[in-house]
Amino acid sequence: MPAQNYQKDFASFDGKIWLNAASEGPLPLAADKALAQAVAWKMKPYLLDMGKFVTTVTGLKRSIGRLLGVDEADVILGNSASYGLHLLANGIPWKKGDEILTMQNDFPTNILPWLALEKKGVIVRQIKPKGRVLEPEELRKFVNARTRLLCLSHVHTFSGHVLDVAGFAQICKERGILFVLNLSQSLGAMPVDVGKFSVDAVVSAGYKWLCGPYGTGFCWIKPRLRKSLTLNQAYWAAMLSREDLLEECPLKLKDIQSARRFDVFGTANFFNHVPLKTAIDYWLESGLENVKAYHDTLVDRFIAGLRGSDYELISPEKGEKRSSLIVFSHADRNRNTQIYEILLSRGIYTALWKGNIRVAPHVYNTAQEIDQTVKALREI
Ligand SMILES: Cc1ncc(COP(=O)(O)O)c(C=O)c1O
Repeated sequence: MPAQNYQKDFASFDGKIWLNAASEGPLPLAADKALAQAVAWKMKPYLLDMGKFVTTVTGLKRSIGRLLGVDEADVILGNSASYGLHLLANGIPWKKGDEILTMQNDFPTNILPWLALEKKGVIVRQIKPKGRVLEPEELRKFVNARTRLLCLSHVHTFSGHVLDVAGFAQICKERGILFVLNLSQSLGAMPVDVGKFSVDAVVSAGYKWLCGPYGTGFCWIKPRLRKSLTLNQAYWAAMLSREDLLEECPLKLKDIQSARRFDVFGTANFFNHVPLKTAIDYWLESGLENVKAYHDTLVDRFIAGLRGSDYELISPEKGEKRSSLIVFSHADRNRNTQIYEILLSRGIYTALWKGNIRVAPHVYNTAQEIDQTVKALREI
């Protein structure tokens, strides 16, 4: 799809410049249209035939399966990235003394779900990286016979670095450690092939780069790991068939081990799941290689624009570690909050995290918007 075609697929932003897909991606027009249909089903419930309860879930899982490069039967619907991490934290049968490794200063989603396990005697280590993000070689000295799980992000929210997934996966494989990866800052911004990653589980939010509705997310858990989960999750709509529902005898808990069992309660959440599928299909049709190539032109342009200015780059300038998240700081870090606010007052929406400014352009942004933002930054 040619670069100049993307903007027509999104609403007009009324002159505002939205450079914060890493927090919230705008709904594509096609997804808005799909949502309107779901709203019509609610306004005229006779339009909501039983089939839609099934096809909404199966259709969305098929799209997510294609997006991730995994079997759709292993996709679990959630409502956030946190959802999948909690399934694992609450479902893995932990033993006292087990160790979980995380990265200090990672997005809290990747750390908080494990901390409650400390009450059970599980040790959670937040490893402080030497640089902006952890490198596989640094991990080695924290691994021991009790290490059970490593949880990291594909792209680091606060520094924009792409982590060396293959390097971490290799160590985890060698040492029999479960590797859980959060894709919230990469899915929708670059091609991701989970089948090639050699990870045990991935989680993602659906409302950032994927531009789905807020309160969406999903995960994929390797079947063997999923089948070992022991948490109490017995949602009637996931557990019982139509025939079961018609039975009059006492209910028995079924030993269902399919991914469906772990779906978030209330999958008939048509307002979210119908437009999320359309948004994901939009990226599948656009081709994430094309999306990434377009992002690269915007990121290159922004970085070139800052060169020789008072700003220093925190995210990588080029190469494989660079993502679509550009993180930078004024030479005088104390000025960043004021700069962020001035940009905001001019209708330029960036993010301020950990004292640094983050710009996250997506396909609806244009080269002119990048130039305007760079110009404003240089003037402030
Ligand atoms: C890496 C990462 N994971 C998760 C989230 C959001 O978490 P959740 O979808 O659980 O609300 C963010 C938000 O910025 C994030 O950067």
